[in-house]
Amino acid sequence: MEHSEYENQQDNGGQDVPLSGSTRREFLTQIGLASATIAATPLLTQAETVMPESGAAALGTEIVTTHLTINGKAQTLTLDSRVTLLDALRERLALPGSKKGCDHGQCGACTVLIDGKRMNSCLHLAAMCEGAQVVTIEGLANGEQLHPMQEAFIKHDAFQCGYCTPGQICSALGLVKEGHAHTDAEIRESMSGNICRCGAYQHILEAIKEVQQQA
Ligand code: FES
Ligand code: FES
Repeated sequence: MEHSEYENQQDNGGQDVPLSGSTRREFLTQIGLASATIAATPLLTQAETVMPESGAAALGTEIVTTHLTINGKAQTLTLDSRVTLLDALRERLALPGSKKGCDHGQCGACTVLIDGKRMNSCLHLAAMCEGAQVVTIEGLANGEQLHPMQEAFIKHDAFQCGYCTPGQICSALGLVKEGHAHTDAEIRESMSGNICRCGAYQHILEAIKEVQQQA
């Protein structure tokens, strides 16, 4: 199987993504350790996210109110100013489609569209998104009708275990909208911020190319 790993990065807030070879393996090892750490501390994460105002105030944290539109629905969130958009989506809005892989802007599993641009939601504070239009994987289908990119991922068997897939699909949509990646190498480079540990890269590439040709 052609298995060129994506190199470089997507727009992930300016953080570089480890590339190929041993550096990449070391990175994936670190991702595994990071995931284990996340799994070991769910209560801390949840506590930070859903902490009531009174509890937050007691700890000297700042509570802010932000207004944004998520998947076409206006939302008003009152939360700790440190809560990321990813945690707000998953913990406050019950939208678990965006996945928490690394929580450090390195894997792309949390990619959503913010004002039409693909962004790592783990790198954005919810409070920074005042007035923003956010689209997550949950917002792509039209009722029972899947988005063409979702259909293409299914058709080309590009989702495998599925953990990275929501981020891959959101990133792929951003890529197509950007309109500048036309060769396999350019698409791979543009998708390089999204890491798939199942190695579904070639299938993902085929799915993106199919939708790109329809656009
Ligand atoms: S969870 Fe990995 S980039 Fe956001
Ligand atoms: S489909 Fe499993 S990590 Fe990408």
